[in-house]
Amino acid sequence: MRKPIMAGNWKLNKTPNETIVFVEEIKPLLAGLNDVEIVICPPFTSINVATYLTKNTNIKIGAQNLFWEKSGAFTGEVSGDMLKELGCEYVIVGHSERRQYFGETDQTVNKKVFAAFAASLTPIVCVGETLQEREADKVEQALSAQIREGLQGLNAKDHGKIVIAYEPVWAIGTGRTATPAQASEAHGLIRGLLGEIFGEAAQSIRIQYGGSVKPDNVKELMAQSDIDGALIGGAALKADSFEKLVKYK
Ligand code: 13P
Repeated sequence: MRKPIMAGNWKLNKTPNETIVFVEEIKPLLAGLNDVEIVICPPFTSINVATYLTKNTNIKIGAQNLFWEKSGAFTGEVSGDMLKELGCEYVIVGHSERRQYFGETDQTVNKKVFAAFAASLTPIVCVGETLQEREADKVEQALSAQIREGLQGLNAKDHGKIVIAYEPVWAIGTGRTATPAQASEAHGLIRGLLGEIFGEAAQSIRIQYGGSVKPDNVKELMAQSDIDGALIGGAALKADSFEKLVKYK
């Protein structure tokens, strides 16, 4: 059984004070809910306050990025150990916005996955095709390269340490969600690719869908057998909307 994982990726939103307001609002709304794993990924500067306020609750905190070195002359970077010490349990790796705007590649994703492991953080590894790739019938090719290169060097024993997020680039922030059938097909493809690396254990890896997930489409997406959660941007920024997403059942 794969426990569903609903995660909010706040991107470049919410100051520490705004984080306090959100967390204090959401905590009672989600109290006692234990059949879904709940994760919030604030910007670096809001992580400290978020982990402090969610201690001993059912809400876990993740970061949106990390650097692969532990320390050294890397101005502006943040290491896995730094995030772990703040109380993070998850870290998003290879989000398409990082690939698009900050030059991340499957190779840097791979280094970051190992850096997350070294700090005992669970990477949420993002993959997904562009609109151009979808229109050229290259979805499988794109996902296959991202999974094979991004997860290079992993083997069956690592299966419990990662989450995958399928986020078709054309569906992010556009209001254009993949249809349940499109998402389901891609998730099936990804699980097949994971099978090449992890063998049978691929069945236990959780694959989230991300891209314009909203309270009114979440139920239908979550009903697909290979969709094990959602990575949510815009609709995770308001407590009432995030509550509805977590309580999609
Ligand atoms: P939206 O939900 O705003 O489309 O963003 C999805 C996303 O990129 C989550 O990581």
